[in-house]
Amino acid sequence: MTGSTESPHRSFGIDVGGSGIKGGVVDLDTGALVGDRYKLPTPSPATPAAVAKTVAEVVRHFDWTGPLGVTYPGVVVDGVVRTAANVDDSWIGVNAQEAIAAELGGQPVVVLNDADAAGLAEERYGAGRDKTGLVVLLTFGTGIGSAVIHNGKLLPNTELGHLEVDGKEAEHRAAASVKERKGWSMKKWAKQVTKVLVAIENALCPDLIVAGGGISRKADQWVPLLDNRTPVVAATLQNSAGIVGAAMAAAADVTR
Ligand code: BGC
Repeated sequence: MTGSTESPHRSFGIDVGGSGIKGGVVDLDTGALVGDRYKLPTPSPATPAAVAKTVAEVVRHFDWTGPLGVTYPGVVVDGVVRTAANVDDSWIGVNAQEAIAAELGGQPVVVLNDADAAGLAEERYGAGRDKTGLVVLLTFGTGIGSAVIHNGKLLPNTELGHLEVDGKEAEHRAAASVKERKGWSMKKWAKQVTKVLVAIENALCPDLIVAGGGISRKADQWVPLLDNRTPVVAATLQNSAGIVGAAMAAAADVTR
């Protein structure tokens, strides 16, 4: 595979998920992956050291020698993990950037929030492409992640999934995992999602909401059931959004 020196328009991203750690080379002109993704299972337990090792293995698979971006499912400030809502508490306080860079012999690493990465990618290449104004991307999965982007500029580390909505945290009310656990129909779940979206639009007045996460593949079954004011569209990059957004972050510092 290609190294960073081959083209200034290429970058490299890794998406760290609950079940897999996947990476790929990204063409920044188009947002498309150059070649295949490579995926390894997320180690169990997913301690910082074990994840850093697996991330390094994915990087080596591609012989990638340039800067890389890596996602993390929580707040990350200057590479240091601040929250761990759905992952092991041992992550808190860890400088994830340094831990991964050390595994790679000092290669530059940018670590950013998973939903921020997906939001950046959707805004530039996917469902938010050509839209101006305020775009909010929400990922519905184990939790609810958020990215708030104004005219292409990310406001990093928004945690709208932890907003209290009607006495309950948004992600405890309407994450896709809640639907699964409770065996709800799309209709029942969409009511809870609507409550969360209304709380967000009351606070932020977005121009567009992009719905991401695995369940966005079935968006035609639930987006039409939503009853909020802001237009909602399904994410289009699906599996690659995290990789692409992480690669964008590696190419330009968008995390401050
Ligand atoms: C975390 C967010 C993350 C989201 C999706 C939430 O519990 O607090 O930072 O983006 O889950 O992984």
